[in-house]
Amino acid sequence: MPVELLYALLRNPASTGAVLPSSQRLANAMASAAVGADAVIELGAGTGPVTEALLRKLPGVPLIAVELQPTLVRRLRARFPAADVRQASAKQVVDGLMALPGQVVLVSSLPFRSLPKDVVTETVDSICRFLGHNDERKLVQFTYQPRAPFAAPRHLRWQRRAVVWRNTPPAGIWELQADR
Ligand SMILES: C[S@@+](CC[C@H](N)C(=O)[O-])C[C@H]1O[C@@H](n2cnc3c(N)ncnc32)[C@H](O)[C@@H]1O
Repeated sequence: MPVELLYALLRNPASTGAVLPSSQRLANAMASAAVGADAVIELGAGTGPVTEALLRKLPGVPLIAVELQPTLVRRLRARFPAADVRQASAKQVVDGLMALPGQVVLVSSLPFRSLPKDVVTETVDSICRFLGHNDERKLVQFTYQPRAPFAAPRHLRWQRRAVVWRNTPPAGIWELQADR
């Protein structure tokens, strides 16, 4: 485990959620699901494996990487000067970018199953409002559970796109978008 993730986990276990960083296979599968996007907003960038895969697989596509914890933000900024790394909550950033044009993909490693309930509620509301604005938008989210990451309102629909077996533990990659 990278030492930064260990410290983050010790400081704030519920919001960090993971004991291991995302594997390269999981990071690549998440980034592949965003190919074709005009812009990407990564939520919960952590130690950066998904950020790295996004920059590699979507060269030239604007990437905003959002992370709450200052030590992880410093590391992300030093490692990925091409990304716009913001120290903020996912809700703050998503609310502020509601009017962004084009096909915007949210790529999230947020640990919805361990975050405090009020944070889950406000973040899910914000993401669902964002997706409801424009049919082209979608959320890509991984989960270790055998079901959808969170309950979505009727106008949106979850689809499981892949399972990454060679990750510890195996992870499902789900997409949420307007039910067309
Ligand atoms: C599962 S961990 C990191 C996953 C990342 N792919 C990795 O391998 O390092 C989830 C990250 O989400 C961040 N986080 C938790 N709640 C957040 C929120 N409301 N807004 C932004 N980031 C948040 C945590 O600080 C943590 O770094």
